[in-house]
Amino acid sequence: MERIVILGAGQFGLAALSLINQEHLDVLAFGDNESRLWGGHIGPIPVMSIENALSLAPDLALVSVADETRSESLAAQARSLGFGGRFLRMHELRRYFDVRSAVLLRLGESLKKRGIPGALGELGVYKGDTARKMNALFPDRPLYLFDTFAGFDPRDVEKENARGFSRARTGDFSDTSPEAVLSRLPFPNQAVVCRGYFPETAEGLSDVRFALVSLDADLFAPILAGLEFFYPRLNPGGAILLHDFDSRRFPGAGKAVEAYEKAHGPLPLVPLCDLHGSAVIVHP
Ligand SMILES: C[S@@+](CC[C@H](N)C(=O)[O-])C[C@H]1O[C@@H](n2cnc3c(N)ncnc32)[C@H](O)[C@@H]1O
Repeated sequence: MERIVILGAGQFGLAALSLINQEHLDVLAFGDNESRLWGGHIGPIPVMSIENALSLAPDLALVSVADETRSESLAAQARSLGFGGRFLRMHELRRYFDVRSAVLLRLGESLKKRGIPGALGELGVYKGDTARKMNALFPDRPLYLFDTFAGFDPRDVEKENARGFSRARTGDFSDTSPEAVLSRLPFPNQAVVCRGYFPETAEGLSDVRFALVSLDADLFAPILAGLEFFYPRLNPGGAILLHDFDSRRFPGAGKAVEAYEKAHGPLPLVPLCDLHGSAVIVHP
């Protein structure tokens, strides 16, 4: 068994703990510079200072933060504390492996193979990274693109802030446009741009049925509205890829699932081990 500590007890640390092979790695502790986290646990693993974590003499330090600068600074801190073992950097692995995209690809291929009919939809398009992949997977199906294209709406931000879910601000993610997204799509003739505030932009679309939906609007109110609109309109076997279901940055998405389930009963939802806390909901 290799002995390991995870440096970084945030979203990436949580994902790292789920992903690593615990048959070969013995996870001793999380180390983090946030003193408010010390003394807590993630699952069964204790969270402590970086110094205390390294004093457990691990063989390997898994640096679990999103950006390179922070990753390098944590590694430098560990070295300055006398750690002479190996480093594994999650931000580097993420450059090569992307669980969420892989799931979207495999899900899309499986829907096609099994002949699940219906359109595609995305709520929360931004610059079209996911929309582009969906459009490439299904050249022959309409792709409904729901976004304000002006970032978060003040109505949603007000609810979000009032509940203390995230630090979202009106206009976050506004640096995009329908034209910019369309120019990135391999089959732009399939795109149906629904620009404006969701769920208002879904009015008049109640007869559309979906095979695959990406729900990525970050905040409680639009995610709940998205579940209310899309889930009953999935064809049997169709799926929603829900972003941020288990997210520390946008906990409102998980709360929206709770609210939906309270009103309508349990959703057939499977959490993914990606770095963003996504989940898949497959309609029976
Ligand atoms: C994280 S971004 C989406 C990222 C995108 N799925 C991708 O693949 O890169 C979230 C998007 O949700 C949109 N959004 C949030 N609330 C919305 C609402 N009520 N109506 C329409 N769009 C909304 C924002 O404008 C923003 O572009």
